[in-house]
Amino acid sequence: MDVKIALIGAGNVGQGFLSVLRKKREQLAVRHGITFQLVSVCDRSHGSVTASAGLKISEILPILEDGRGLLDYQTSDQACVKGLDPLACLELSQADVVLECTHSNLQTGEPAAGYIRQALGLRKHVVSSNKGPAALNYQELRDLAKTNCVRYLFGASVMNGTPLVPLLRNAYRADEVLEIRGLLNVTTNFVLAQMEKDKPGEAAIQEAVENGYSEADVALDLEGHDTMAKLMILLNVLSDRQQPLDRFIREGITNITVRDVQSAREKNMRYRMIAHAVRDEDGSWRGQVGPNKIDALDPFYHVVETQNAIQFKSETVGDIYLEGPGSGRQEVGYSMLLDLLSIYVP
Ligand SMILES: NC(=O)c1ccc[n+]([C@@H]2O[C@H](COP(=O)([O-])OP(=O)(O)OC[C@H]3O[C@@H](n4cnc5c(N)ncnc54)[C@H](OP(=O)(O)O)[C@@H]3O)[C@@H](O)[C@H]2O)c1
Repeated sequence: MDVKIALIGAGNVGQGFLSVLRKKREQLAVRHGITFQLVSVCDRSHGSVTASAGLKISEILPILEDGRGLLDYQTSDQACVKGLDPLACLELSQADVVLECTHSNLQTGEPAAGYIRQALGLRKHVVSSNKGPAALNYQELRDLAKTNCVRYLFGASVMNGTPLVPLLRNAYRADEVLEIRGLLNVTTNFVLAQMEKDKPGEAAIQEAVENGYSEADVALDLEGHDTMAKLMILLNVLSDRQQPLDRFIREGITNITVRDVQSAREKNMRYRMIAHAVRDEDGSWRGQVGPNKIDALDPFYHVVETQNAIQFKSETVGDIYLEGPGSGRQEVGYSMLLDLLSIYVP
């Protein structure tokens, strides 16, 4: 089977996905009988290129990695079109699946939610790494996907390369989750851990940005918006409905000083940004996101800076703890590929 794919947003995640796909393409063809063919790449900085006969990932990727524009892509294909906007790329590309990897807007979900709506409306599956739409527009996009008989998947949006969302979709179908606790943001893990080593907060934040851990706007990490969006996504998936934000409290780490961190260390404690939610008897969820002081008996205490971790308490199975990669291009690229594959190999 040949599957045509279009990419919107070709930054870290988009490039990570292309790189993993390039490495695994032949293996997937042999193992599952599916060949994924890239037909469009569209990005605000790099421009766009669309050719329904196919694009060469081996030539596209170096252009993106060098920070060049897609106008540099050379082809003899007369039908290849450059410079279209995302919506025009979607319409022209004849893609079966759209991979959406633009910035997360955690206030409105836009413009990504608009691209996803358009793609689903055109009966294209969507695989997205974007937190905004999955946190804020879950129910609407799920319904739109159902109406159009396509899938909307967003496994890469939480815990990066750790396959948490695909697991959640199946694991609790016959159980009730009662409580969730998560360490879900690498930027704050890293910043607080650096402060434990006496690094001033500003310098630690700068290093997190340079290492590529942060959102485009690092305040989204520091103020807890990113962690809150991830918590909402997990609860949306678990309850299969849109969770109302007004039952959740958010606090950032910006008021925590090196002195606070050091005095916690003297008591063998450390600060971490933690998401916590509990399910009330009527089935509704409430919770909070913010800095917590934790001791060495807490499993989150031992989680290294680039990892994420999550704990679930459920009625039948009890406690489950999962820890895995919270950052890395290769890992998030794999997560996107896993969602893509699951459309065709359920
Ligand atoms: N990085 C991670 O480890 C990670 C992990 C999981 C999920 N995510 C999520 O994945 C998404 C992408 O993250 P990233 O790290 O790849 O960000 P990134 O490196 O900044 O890449 C985003 C790319 O999308 C482009 N873009 C932004 N708005 C666009 C638009 N309207 N149309 C077309 N292209 C647009 C950007 O262009 P400009 O540079 O011109 O803005 C940029 O090239 C975000 O939603 C993020 O929250 C990231």
